[in-house]
Amino acid sequence: MNHVSSKKSAATTVTAQDLFDKLQHIKMGGTVCHFSLKKCAELVPAINEINQLKIDKNAVILAHSYVSPEIVYGVADFVGDSYQLSKDAVSTTAKIIVFAAVRFMGETAQILNPKKKVLIPASLDGCTLADSINAAQVRDLRKKFFDYTFVCYINTTAEVKAECDVCVTSANVYDVVARIENNKIYFLPDKFMGKNLIAEMKVRKVKKDIRYYEGTCYVHEEYTPEQIQQIRLEYPKVKVVSHPECRPEVIQNSDFVGSTAQMLEYMLKEKSGKEFLMLTECGLSSRLQVEMPHKRLVGSCTLCRYMKSNTLTDILRVLKNPTQKDLVILDEAVRLKALKCIEAMFTYTERKSS
Ligand code: 13P
Ligand code: SF4
Repeated sequence: MNHVSSKKSAATTVTAQDLFDKLQHIKMGGTVCHFSLKKCAELVPAINEINQLKIDKNAVILAHSYVSPEIVYGVADFVGDSYQLSKDAVSTTAKIIVFAAVRFMGETAQILNPKKKVLIPASLDGCTLADSINAAQVRDLRKKFFDYTFVCYINTTAEVKAECDVCVTSANVYDVVARIENNKIYFLPDKFMGKNLIAEMKVRKVKKDIRYYEGTCYVHEEYTPEQIQQIRLEYPKVKVVSHPECRPEVIQNSDFVGSTAQMLEYMLKEKSGKEFLMLTECGLSSRLQVEMPHKRLVGSCTLCRYMKSNTLTDILRVLKNPTQKDLVILDEAVRLKALKCIEAMFTYTERKSS
């Protein structure tokens, strides 16, 4: 990743050839993620301007693995899943955080860093999952299920987190829920993750009464066991790697399930599989093609329109002239309540199972 130091005054210049050398193996996203030398030459002026602005303004760029490769490999200082990025947001000493992902991930960075300026370059707000529930709906549910611990996925707004007890990410959902003292859990908003959570607690022999909300991610709900079967017929040795937002029938037919960072780590370690089917947004597949070009990916590409609404042009714009809309601004009472919910996640994640 790029290195930013406040002592340096000039950023290292990236050439079109440098970028092309990194991105030439990406094939998954068709024209969206296909990089010719000519396309790289068009991208490098913005990349170099952004890298210089980061130094001048003491800013860092946090990018989720789903955003476009030119952001991940051209300008990002930190790349990862939502859990790792929330930790990176705490560790950075930069004054400005540009969060190339979705707004609620930027909100998490702001909740944890009230003194820093958090800027959101994504032109589309929210996502199908985060938009499926609001704070008033959580308050109503809490009246009905008053003795339940409310666990929210990180893909929720700050207002929703403020109404819940413990936040989780795809990297820690099973461990955190297993460690919560209360046996009654209300999980929101992802119904498939809720169902997968019930199944995993059974496997672990953890007794929990789990209820869940009805939200879904439009990217992950598209995958079906029939698609897996088809791929297995063609490639009998394929390893199927899925995200916990997929349907339970997909999870049951997978060789590995985990957060985007855990999926990447599995691929790095897995030696027996010849081909891999990644059931998640194809930004992750692009990363695999850059970082493990010798591993073969099969299957088609699915894009998340919210993540892919981050562009170099918008990153440049928010660094140069941020508007009120680009900034994360949170009500302080909401921020403090949401902070408690996120801190509970860190506490449960770091606590060893008894
Ligand atoms: P990860 O936390 O696994 O990166 O997932 C985030 C997300 O938005 C999945 O759809
Ligand atoms: Fe939301 Fe799904 Fe996109 Fe993740 S992949 S940001 S859950 S719409």
